[in-house]
Amino acid sequence: MATTAPITKVASLAASNPSSQTAPATLPPNVITLRQTAQLEALYTIIRDKKTGRGDFIFYSDRIIRLLVEEGLNHLPIVPKTVMTPTGVEYAGVGFEGRICGVSILRAGEAMEAGLREVCRSVRIGKILIQRDEQTALPKLFFSKLPEDIATRYVLLLDPMLATGGSAMKAVEVLREAGVPEDRIIFINLISCPEGLKTFCGKFPQCRVITGWVDRELNEKKFILPGLGDFGERRYTA
Ligand code: URA
Repeated sequence: MATTAPITKVASLAASNPSSQTAPATLPPNVITLRQTAQLEALYTIIRDKKTGRGDFIFYSDRIIRLLVEEGLNHLPIVPKTVMTPTGVEYAGVGFEGRICGVSILRAGEAMEAGLREVCRSVRIGKILIQRDEQTALPKLFFSKLPEDIATRYVLLLDPMLATGGSAMKAVEVLREAGVPEDRIIFINLISCPEGLKTFCGKFPQCRVITGWVDRELNEKKFILPGLGDFGERRYTA
């Protein structure tokens, strides 16, 4: 009789073997990670692999971005909403209470806009460009274009890599100056690190941070380890 090889059930490597690849379990209370499943880890393994080409990098990072946006929407307030189904029965469900918009931190954050549009049709999206000031070495605002009614919306702030947190903190300052309350800002990123989370969450404890994966550390060049290299370069350079 022919035998088939047993299927080996492997849980997420990160869950079964919390080696030095991932960060410690204690995170600031306003940080939410995606569920660390084997499937998610497989997606991350592809985008981390330096051999992965641009087409696959875009495809698989887009899959993660979509999961992150869906998770971000889970943190918006809801109100009871009753509808009538085609069977003539009332269904007591829920609906979203507030309106949202996206704000991407250029240029890498722009890569997350399509994922947001896929999930939230005709969502309004603003943009913020922050770069290092040559003189002070501090993050400096170069350009921002935000929806004029942004103060009345929940904001999904988009930037794929939370490294030092400098750009994200500057972006939150810009949003606060535009009238957005801190607790209406949800910062979404693919990979973060303990240093960036500690700095960002220390300064803005009421913002929520949705991160796909918390990596081990930053190196001296401020790259995340193990990380995936330069997100913008991998996404935009053939
Ligand atoms: N930005 C990136 O693209 N990669 C890092 O590792 C850190 C910041």
